[in-house]
Amino acid sequence: MNPLSLPIPPCRLLVIDDNRAIHDDIRKIFAVRSDAGKLEALEAELFGTPNIASSRPVFIIDSAYQGQDGLALAQQALTEDQPYQVAFIDVRMPPGWDGIETLEHLWQTDPDLQAVICTAYADYSWTEIIARLGRSDQFLILKKPFDPIEMSQLAAALSRKWILHRQVQQQLDALDHLVQQRTGELQAANEQLRQEIVQREKIELELRLSQKLEAVGQLAAGIAHEINTPIQYIGDSVHFLQSAFDDLTGLITVYQALWPQFRQNPQSADWQAKVQDAEEAADLDYLREQAPRAFERTLEGVERVAGIVRAMREFAHPDQREQSSADLNKALLNTLTVARNEYKYVADLETDLGDLPPILCYASDLNQVFLNLVVNAAHAIGDVVGNSADKGRITVRTRDLGETVEITIADTGNGIPEAIRERIFDPFFTTKPVGKGTGQGLAIARSIVVDKHRGSLTFETVAGQGTTFYIRLPVSGRVVGGDPP
Ligand SMILES: Nc1ncnc2c1ncn2[C@@H]1O[C@H](COP(=O)(O)OP(=O)(O)O)[C@@H](O)[C@H]1O
Ligand SMILES: [Mg+2]
Repeated sequence: MNPLSLPIPPCRLLVIDDNRAIHDDIRKIFAVRSDAGKLEALEAELFGTPNIASSRPVFIIDSAYQGQDGLALAQQALTEDQPYQVAFIDVRMPPGWDGIETLEHLWQTDPDLQAVICTAYADYSWTEIIARLGRSDQFLILKKPFDPIEMSQLAAALSRKWILHRQVQQQLDALDHLVQQRTGELQAANEQLRQEIVQREKIELELRLSQKLEAVGQLAAGIAHEINTPIQYIGDSVHFLQSAFDDLTGLITVYQALWPQFRQNPQSADWQAKVQDAEEAADLDYLREQAPRAFERTLEGVERVAGIVRAMREFAHPDQREQSSADLNKALLNTLTVARNEYKYVADLETDLGDLPPILCYASDLNQVFLNLVVNAAHAIGDVVGNSADKGRITVRTRDLGETVEITIADTGNGIPEAIRERIFDPFFTTKPVGKGTGQGLAIARSIVVDKHRGSLTFETVAGQGTTFYIRLPVSGRVVGGDPP
């Protein structure tokens, strides 16, 4: 609303002058104005003319004859929440404060008060007044004797100024309040957003973890099988070695029994025949040839089991909070070891691992990516070879490209049909039956490679020939100071 169109509240004046006659003069000046207002209102009512009186201020005038009294009135007016708008203050008011001192006190109490300092020629100079009160737009100097019109115009203008100042102040306060309120709302919204992001990250992490656990669970049966094979031939070899040991101790018993005969008569044909019989019975030549092989097989089996366990432990390594330097070729080999049972019946594995620099990364997450891609490759090939004795091929390649490294996982499956190429990275998109696929593999792989490592995950596919997935990762990891994962 235009403040100028607001109804005008009464104008409260404080006159401080030791000369009582001045008070009477001033009252006359303003009384005339308000009487005129009444007349105009009457005229408007009688003759239907526009009422200009309602746009004129009504004056309420209080008088004080000394500065101290004026201050007391001003203080009281403030406590009653009826502050004065304008004060007319005489400069010379013996015996108390002069006008300037009075105004200093008034402003300490009520800084918004507009003042008119009334002075005769001989009083303070303008420079002296400025020196005392400072430069301010809140006071005017009016030379005596007063011109009634000038005085009433001054009072009306200053009172209007006071009201406008107060309205502006109120609007500024309201605006300030609004800004504070909006800022508070924004901060609250921001905080909520931050909490939602934290929550989302937590859920994503949990989803990743659960997919990993699920994958590890699925691998468990295969891994048990992988470990079972070497355990079985370790068992066979140890059994063989046990019976070989029995044969050898039997032979040693014969040697010990024949030892006294040999000492008495080394030439005797009797003990020689017995030794020969015993050695033939123990099949010594065979033992000599086979025992070292059995030991070799045992050690090899133990090494294989240890290797699988090591690979599993490294594969299932708990999530790291920080990036660390990792040998990606080793990580890939670990993944291929734990996943072997998933692909070995349908595909031969070909690895072509180039020299790679250490990569700053979250290796445990990358293991999950490699596993998801290898399992997908095995499934795609499985769909082609079915239960036949045919096998496809999974090729795993790594290359150092300078700033980045590239890991390629290619299969000889049927390719990805054009109609679904756009959707394979969507969470929960799957073409596999329940129990075989959940549609999370590629979504999680992409989140790990792209969001967490600022790498890229792309693919090429040819119908009927196969699919190749390309992972590219920055060698120096995610840029430090970049946005959080
Ligand atoms: N190597 C691949 N060859 C053919 N199709 C693939 C291959 N990898 C993924 N796909 C397709 O993408 C879909 C989504 O894969 P993924 O996110 O790993 O989920 P899931 O394997 O659980 O189905 C698969 O269901 C499959 O249709
Ligand atoms: Mg999958």
